[in-house]
Amino acid sequence: MKRSEQSAMLTIEQIENQYIIDDCKDVLANVEDDTFDLIITSPPYADRRKGTYGGIHPDKYVEWFLPRSEQFLRVLKPTGTFILNIKELSVDGQRHTYVLDLIKVFKDQGWLWTEEFIWHKKNTYPGKWPNRFRDAWERCLQFNKQRKFNMYQEAVMVPVGDWAKDRLANLSEKDKIRDISAVGSGFGKNISNWLDRKMVYPTNVLHLATECGNKNHSAVFPVALPSWFIRLFTLEGDLVLDPFAGSGTTAVACKQLNRNYVMIDVKEEYRQIAEERLSDAVQLELKTSIRER
Ligand SMILES: C[S@@+](CC[C@H](N)C(=O)[O-])C[C@H]1O[C@@H](n2cnc3c(N)ncnc32)[C@H](O)[C@@H]1O
Repeated sequence: MKRSEQSAMLTIEQIENQYIIDDCKDVLANVEDDTFDLIITSPPYADRRKGTYGGIHPDKYVEWFLPRSEQFLRVLKPTGTFILNIKELSVDGQRHTYVLDLIKVFKDQGWLWTEEFIWHKKNTYPGKWPNRFRDAWERCLQFNKQRKFNMYQEAVMVPVGDWAKDRLANLSEKDKIRDISAVGSGFGKNISNWLDRKMVYPTNVLHLATECGNKNHSAVFPVALPSWFIRLFTLEGDLVLDPFAGSGTTAVACKQLNRNYVMIDVKEEYRQIAEERLSDAVQLELKTSIRER
């Protein structure tokens, strides 16, 4: 039965710009189909933080996640996008495969695995392990319901940068004509087309520093991370869901970018942190607008 045929459904007015305390699976069970333009979240990384907000054994992770991703699939608009920021742990000296397993079962559930972005943590400090080096990147997996989805690529264009000076100063004859891909993909490139461009499209690697200032939640992502995806996949006024909201970083990004949000988390104390951060964001906005007058 469609959720909309059941009673006690939550209206948009009841949930918009709210931080709701409960298991996201249970909250979303009362939300209409096709409600959100973007879902962006960073879930518990299995049992990595079991001392703070609990955890799920890596072997049970996929089983735990599936009923939640089923709700995400139902409440996301057909033109919407789901971004999952996640990283596998090392267990007994090797990487666990729960993220890879999750991708496979998501596909069986009906998701399209469209893309994988890498978040390169550019301020990572050094460390030493017997069989590996310091983790300095995380996955941001992109899933969609259909091949055609909303994407506003111009919103995340970047200055062409120093690459242009060196690469474009020394164009070969091959660079000046359309170079058809050797792998037979049908795609080609003509590097000289980028001469005189000031702005170009970014790659799928995001170089962003982690934020160390938030002492009250142990696993925040930087505001710049949800901001980038919010600009890429939504317009002002759109509705964004973070079902594992923590300290409300996604809400802060939404507030700054004039998007609406719904935050969900199991822990009441995180709502308080989020509310403080949101009020700081509003104060900052006020100060900036007064300065600009
Ligand atoms: C990695 S943290 C998210 C941090 C967040 N991105 C931020 O910047 O603060 C994961 C969050 O998921 C919450 N959580 C765990 N299980 C949950 C569930 N079933 N439903 C909703 N939230 C849950 C935890 O309390 C924790 O705050």
